[in-house]
Amino acid sequence: MRFSFFILTLCLCVFAKEKDSFITAEEYAQHLYKNPRGIGCDKCHGPNGEGMVIANYLHKGKKRVLKTDSIKHLTLEQFKAALEEKNGLMPKYFLTRSEVKTLYDYLYEAKE
Ligand code: HEC
Repeated sequence: MRFSFFILTLCLCVFAKEKDSFITAEEYAQHLYKNPRGIGCDKCHGPNGEGMVIANYLHKGKKRVLKTDSIKHLTLEQFKAALEEKNGLMPKYFLTRSEVKTLYDYLYEAKE
């Protein structure tokens, strides 16, 4: 019993050490974009941050469109600021500096 526990722990250590090879940096970035401890960025900004129509609705009898523009052409500073402050419809996220940088690099490398 004790021995199998030792083997299990050993395996976990080996896997933990090798974890970099399970997922590439790009896969990590893509997961983070879709699942950033909150609603995925892709739901409102499109799969690659190119912007999208979030909803069409009627307001006082007039057709309105709720949409986002591309978030691929901002400076890192603008990008960070948008994620740090609560503005309008966009939810507030609690991402680390390195997570924000990962998302930023991901969007800039992703195709149009
Ligand atoms: C519920 C919808 C929603 C989600 C989810 C969302 N955003 Fe936004 N975001 C918006 C809206 C709406 C705006 C403001 C409109 C615009 O700038 O196009 C905005 C603005 C931004 C801006 C500033 C754009 C500018 O031009 O200044 C950035 C950067 C941004 N979002 C990044 C993200 C990232 C990264 C995530 C995921 C961690 C995310 N957003 C998740 C709706 C959302």
